[in-house]
Amino acid sequence: MPFPDLGKAAQSAIYRAGTFGRRPQVPTDGAALEEAARRSMSRRGFAYVAGSAGSEATARANREAFARWRVVPRMLVDTSERDMGVELFGRRHASPLVVAPIGVLSSAHADADLAVARAARAQEVTPILSTQASVPMEDVAAALEGAGHWYQLYWSSNDELVASLVQRAEACGSEAIVVTLDTAYLGWRPRDLDLGHLPFARGEGIAQYTSDPVFRRLVADRVAAKAQADLEPQPRPTPAAVRTLVSLSRNHPGDTRRNLSAPEPRAAVETFLDVFSRPSLSWADLPRLRELTRLPLVLKGVLHPDDARRAVDEGVDGILVSNHGGRQVDRSVAALDALPGVVDAVRFSGSDMPVLFDSGIRSGADVFVALALGADAVGIGRPHVYGLALAGAAGVAEVLRNLRAELDLTMALTGCRSLADITRDRLVEAPLPH
Ligand SMILES: Cc1cc2nc3c(=O)[nH]c(=O)nc-3n(C[C@H](O)[C@H](O)[C@H](O)COP(=O)(O)O)c2cc1C
Repeated sequence: MPFPDLGKAAQSAIYRAGTFGRRPQVPTDGAALEEAARRSMSRRGFAYVAGSAGSEATARANREAFARWRVVPRMLVDTSERDMGVELFGRRHASPLVVAPIGVLSSAHADADLAVARAARAQEVTPILSTQASVPMEDVAAALEGAGHWYQLYWSSNDELVASLVQRAEACGSEAIVVTLDTAYLGWRPRDLDLGHLPFARGEGIAQYTSDPVFRRLVADRVAAKAQADLEPQPRPTPAAVRTLVSLSRNHPGDTRRNLSAPEPRAAVETFLDVFSRPSLSWADLPRLRELTRLPLVLKGVLHPDDARRAVDEGVDGILVSNHGGRQVDRSVAALDALPGVVDAVRFSGSDMPVLFDSGIRSGADVFVALALGADAVGIGRPHVYGLALAGAAGVAEVLRNLRAELDLTMALTGCRSLADITRDRLVEAPLPH
């Protein structure tokens, strides 16, 4: 169903509020949005969200890659009716946006994943639920009230845990499993390192694990094994250690007061750090995942055309071109620069599977460029977290609405009635600087 003048409606709402002296709480400009969020977030919270790997050259390259493309508008096309809908994995999506999976949303807002779910539902944008979520997937699915969602999997070193997470995702209605391949280890992230801050070590962002029956059994085993061993002498607690203990106890399921003296919260963090990822993961493992689920499988983090061709050969159902927003490898290729090569590799292999994209989208015009370079849909990452930090669910909804509105206006003003019109020949490369 085409949106009736989405862009114009959003403008009108903002300008009408302006006549009463109200300005948007959530800035419409990407850089202003980030700056407003920085001011409202804790130092650690902002460092975790905004930070990237190493010198952050990859994050900059992601943005610079967009700046190298210019859109060429076409005139005298009747664009009075537009449709930005797209079919993905057998369901019609109202727009080519999905919410990228983001862990530790509690660092931006107490309502965390629940707020994002409500906003995504209101904006008809499919969220990808993270394995590092702050809220168990079943609760997020309930907040979505039947609206579609996908599940992002970090492939644990424990097979039974992988099976359990995938089975839970299926049971709570996920429509696809998005396997993130670029995070066998956490990237080298100076903003977090210099604050000595890893949210998981404080029990944040491990709710999918602490709500999982297999994981809970691993924790119980660890606690039992520890009880057998001689207790090491404990160092005198510092104020920071006490704050960590409180954070661990709060983030662990059950009664916070009881958790303060229980061994499980700390054992859960230690168990998580043990099983989080499987650096040995290879193509040979994919069939096992295929056996675990009938859901479409999407590989997230593909940047090389050969990996894309291999993905086609392995029979996966989709690819998400991404460099994790520059958080994993410093001086990595910009995700947008990798996109056309991956799209060509997939299409020349004869596959019509969806190629999705994220890493660097900050505006509706950016969405347009990524679509023109061959993406079927794009993931919205940091901007929605900034909206969350500023105004909870309403802030996320506003960010998503603004992106859709600007995309709608960009389509209208460039002569595009549907996504099929957004082709590569709509773009030219920017002239090189002198
Ligand atoms: C704070 C933060 C946490 C993230 N957590 C996850 C995650 O749990 N799983 C995952 O696959 N990707 C994760 N990502 C990567 C995003 O899914 C996405 O690839 C990235 O945000 C895109 O870059 P952009 O936000 O700069 O556009 C995270 C990104 C950020 C910024």
